[in-house]
Amino acid sequence: MKKIRVALKGRSYDIVIGPGLFKKTGMLLKKLGLRQRDAVIVTNRRILDLCGRKLAGDLKKRGFTVTFLLVPDSEKAKSGEVAISLLNRIADYDKYRRLFLIALGGGVVGDLTGFVASIYKRGVPYVQIPTTLLGQVDSSIGGKTAIDLPAAKNLAGAFYQPKIVICDTSILKSLPRRQLKSGLAEIIKYGVIKDRGLFEYIEKNYARMLSAEAAALEFAIARSAKIKAEVVSRDELDTKGLRVILNYGHTTGHAIESAGAYSGQYDHGEGVAIGMAAAADMASALKMISPGDAGRIKALIKKCGLPLRAKGLSVSKIYGSIAHDKKFIRGRNRLVLPAGIGKVRVVEGVPERVIKEAIKGEKYG
Ligand SMILES: NC(=O)c1ccc[n+]([C@@H]2O[C@H](COP(=O)([O-])OP(=O)(O)OC[C@H]3O[C@@H](n4cnc5c(N)ncnc54)[C@H](O)[C@@H]3O)[C@@H](O)[C@H]2O)c1
Ligand SMILES: [Zn+2]
Repeated sequence: MKKIRVALKGRSYDIVIGPGLFKKTGMLLKKLGLRQRDAVIVTNRRILDLCGRKLAGDLKKRGFTVTFLLVPDSEKAKSGEVAISLLNRIADYDKYRRLFLIALGGGVVGDLTGFVASIYKRGVPYVQIPTTLLGQVDSSIGGKTAIDLPAAKNLAGAFYQPKIVICDTSILKSLPRRQLKSGLAEIIKYGVIKDRGLFEYIEKNYARMLSAEAAALEFAIARSAKIKAEVVSRDELDTKGLRVILNYGHTTGHAIESAGAYSGQYDHGEGVAIGMAAAADMASALKMISPGDAGRIKALIKKCGLPLRAKGLSVSKIYGSIAHDKKFIRGRNRLVLPAGIGKVRVVEGVPERVIKEAIKGEKYG
């Protein structure tokens, strides 16, 4: 079992990673010394069947009471309606109880549960038990919680840190391959932005990771979680401009995800993969990276079975949605581009021609 600390003074917490942690969750929670003993597990039907009962059994053995509250299985669960329904169900259950919440599921369940925990009684403790690879390396860490509004995704939310993040790597065995690949795209991201050793590890072990081999995943999840934990520790509220490097591949990635939204052609990880490849080409055009390193980034994305180019989507439509990214300051674009493997730079005002050529992907192959 590996343990990583997210250092945030009074809000510090551990991320624990390893196989079979469901059988140790009761002990891990007991050690937190929470005053609360009534666990409200928020999850969906699929995950309840997969591992919910095993988890509940272990918690009961350690003296916790357990109840499940089920939410729909899709991004639809991150809605105002589901959040209010969850709050009402929690309030009904909460008679003479000392409750805390457990988010058991992927990023959807994690974001929703964290948000509800932040507002119920102005904040009750919550625990993240992510069951997707993306959840384990990204969404469960850092305290960004949210629901979607019709105007935009993740528009209503709060910074609210969990008490612990428990990543059981055995649970990833049942993940569909497309989901595993999506998580792998985020792991490649961590390698490129900060960790050459991790990048090289993926180059050697991607096949083991795609077969959900616990040891390979444990190594890569821990290295990724460590990077996210360090960035979050230094910029908890995303006000110092340090968290921005985590957006490598994401500006173009989001544009591709939304351009193909109706067909569901590209999921988040695939969008990010294409965005990382495009960023490598932009960096090549700006002579920021050697052709060898840019080639290595794209070769790894390809080896992992992820796409390099957005097929069948309009380049001007993608460019249009990049140009309107709400994160840009005064309308000037701001992209995270690789300066090598393990090193990125934030570049402002990348010329339209460079961006469009990179999305087309013709110049650098
Ligand atoms: N808070 C953050 O910092 C942050 C960061 C990145 C992404 N996110 C959010 O995360 C969400 C995406 O998360 P996701 O990719 O985990 O998607 P998800 O939560 O929708 O999970 C994907 C699918 O996998 C199923 N599933 C979960 N665990 C499984 C398992 N072990 N075996 C088989 N199936 C399993 C789920 O039921 C779901 O159908 C988005 O809403 C995104 O906005 C948040
Ligand atoms: Zn992402």
